[in-house]
Amino acid sequence: MTASASSPQTRHFALIPAAGIGARVGGAIPKQYLPLAGKPMLQYALDIFAASALIAHTFLVVSADDGYIDDFLATQPQLAGKLTVLRNGGATRQDSVLNGLQAIGAQLGADDWVLVHDAARPGLAADLLDRLIAALHGDEVGGLLALPVVDTLKRSGGTPEQHERVQATVPRDALWAAQTPQMFRYGLLTRALEQAHAQNRVGDITDDASAVEMLGLQPKLVEGSPRNFKVTLAHDVALAELFLKT
Ligand code: CTP
Ligand code: MG
Repeated sequence: MTASASSPQTRHFALIPAAGIGARVGGAIPKQYLPLAGKPMLQYALDIFAASALIAHTFLVVSADDGYIDDFLATQPQLAGKLTVLRNGGATRQDSVLNGLQAIGAQLGADDWVLVHDAARPGLAADLLDRLIAALHGDEVGGLLALPVVDTLKRSGGTPEQHERVQATVPRDALWAAQTPQMFRYGLLTRALEQAHAQNRVGDITDDASAVEMLGLQPKLVEGSPRNFKVTLAHDVALAELFLKT
């Protein structure tokens, strides 16, 4: 179906990569299932998208051998009909995103928007999601949430002896730290990731926007929120709980 390609009323879909293991958090289970303030981490993002009137449907990408997803879904009746689980996660985040995009191609038009959001960002708030969608309405390229860098940045040396010694202070002017959701049209994002694969440049991609940038395009930066940080290291779990309790 390509109805949206001929219609200005494009739809918005969420695609949530959740096929990682959370090695750096180092928990006993994959981090997206860790309890945070009484709920599994994954539930926070899924609930935000499911509750949004702007989101037509959510797709969740998990790994084929995920032993937690079925028990999790059994506790989430509010997501019924709003969520489709794709069990085709890949070896890297970008593989998981591309596998997910390719699996849903028959259901989306090329001009439909896809919001890719890390399962490991439980602090996305409904008003921030609305603001991102509004800021990119009618945009030619798409864009992402990001935060202006406020810290002074130091670059250390490359050798083991030098890796704790400052080599340079890096000007932070105009630097932003990328967050998610990252929102692009289905056709463009799929093409961008497929091309990065074909050119063996997947190693250069750490987010969805960087694949789009490789096409020579300039995604729009929309100011995010500290609350929307990615739970990455063990100490982030306590920090996320602080945010989520308030
Ligand atoms: N992700 C994924 N498929 C992968 C790797 C990561 O879908 N092969 C997802 C994660 O589940 C997470 C998001 O991409 O929601 C961001 O990745 P990251 O924070 O790096 O999570 P993990 O890869 O699980 O953590 P780590 O790198 O510490 O193992
Ligand atoms: Mg990872």
